[in-house]
Amino acid sequence: MSKHVFHLAWFLSQGYGPKTWRTDWPGPAADLARWMMPDLFLDLARGLERACFDYVIIEDSSMVPYTYRGSHDTYLKYAASTPKLDPAVLVPYLAQATKHLGLVPTLSTTEYPPYLLARLVNSLDHVTEGRIGWNCVTSSNDGAAQNYGHLGQPPHDERYDVADEFTDLVTKLWEAWEPDAVALDREAPLFADGSKVHPVHHEGRYFRCRGPLNAPRSPQGRVPICQAGGSERGKAFSSRWADTIITDANSVAGMKAYREDVRRRAVGWGRDPDSIKVLFLAFPIVDVSMEAAQDRRARMRADSGRHLDLQLSTMSRLTNIDFSRFALDEPLPELTTNGHQSSLAKWIGITPRELAMTRSNKMGIDLTGTADHVAGLMEEIMQEVGGDGFLIFNTYFDRRYLMEVFDGLVPALQRRGAVRTRYAHRHFRDNLMEF
Ligand SMILES: Cc1cc2nc3c(=O)[nH]c(=O)nc-3n(C[C@H](O)[C@H](O)[C@H](O)COP(=O)(O)O)c2cc1C
Repeated sequence: MSKHVFHLAWFLSQGYGPKTWRTDWPGPAADLARWMMPDLFLDLARGLERACFDYVIIEDSSMVPYTYRGSHDTYLKYAASTPKLDPAVLVPYLAQATKHLGLVPTLSTTEYPPYLLARLVNSLDHVTEGRIGWNCVTSSNDGAAQNYGHLGQPPHDERYDVADEFTDLVTKLWEAWEPDAVALDREAPLFADGSKVHPVHHEGRYFRCRGPLNAPRSPQGRVPICQAGGSERGKAFSSRWADTIITDANSVAGMKAYREDVRRRAVGWGRDPDSIKVLFLAFPIVDVSMEAAQDRRARMRADSGRHLDLQLSTMSRLTNIDFSRFALDEPLPELTTNGHQSSLAKWIGITPRELAMTRSNKMGIDLTGTADHVAGLMEEIMQEVGGDGFLIFNTYFDRRYLMEVFDGLVPALQRRGAVRTRYAHRHFRDNLMEF
């Protein structure tokens, strides 16, 4: 592989929920009521594997939000962040349809007990034969905390303190069985050797757990951890634990600075910085001509303008701040949040209308044009940033969009030698660490 090869992953924004129901295509004949059946997601996974993506993240949250105007109506009106089915349920379906693709459900450290999460991920790693990852999130919305018996989220930085201890415990549970603990000796008989299975006896500030896990070490043992902390405390956490970091930096300079920052922090934890792959959120629009692509981008922007409440409600959900309070055309004042700090920091000084029009459309970097044009831009950006790849998303994707990416954009990248053309390994971690 050449030095400039980079990774591709897919962010299944709005998780295991409805996708195309409000767009012009596939049209009213599509059976929108069956969004919970995995058909579209299976097409997505097969396409991702054809295009040799490293992994797909299944986003998640577990509440019907009500931050915007103090009501859940806007969220339900647009199917914005709700409804969502459990991402772990989708994983075995995607695993059956693929052989190499990494599968990364989102599971929260403030919602799961550590043992339950360790057990679920271990089970999924077994049944996918080593293709599971964990998108480790701390959650941010008070509505979710209230579904799990709390009044609201713990303070922002403390959520990461909890996550540190949580992740330490979970990784110990994953490794509690030595790799050769299962003897399978029928004569003896000895199924598993007790001297090679170790209780963890964890007693920390937030958790107690005896262990060991009641299942053997899975193919990857310690599965790849994906993380998106963007604040100072978030980056301290992700640089310590993550194998792949995802972020929404909104300029090439910002991307470069972010990557250098987390790589420097990784060295501080005694880690090889190349053992973390930083992937940047990107929403490409590719079409047969520059004009056709730009026209589609303009139509999406106009749609955002027509449905400002959809965008404002999302911003509200992410930050626990009700954005209906602010004048649409006045720059946002200094604000603080117990939610997504790094997102909010980027919005101060911009008007709510401008944010609503652009936030979900470009994520700062405009990748619009023919497949070859966009491939060239992505290659240039990666050369400037230094690595490690892109996390492609389109909240309301349809099958046409999938074909444009998998059969248009990715082949254009492959012709340039910018992305892989085949998988070299069976396990997700090995493919992730290949370059
Ligand atoms: C690409 C991306 C995907 C994310 N996916 C989820 C998710 O599925 N569920 C969730 O609760 N938070 C998700 N987050 C939020 C992060 O976990 C984190 O809370 C956010 O980046 C803010 O971190 P900070 O408070 O350290 O700035 C995501 C963030 C990014 C950038």
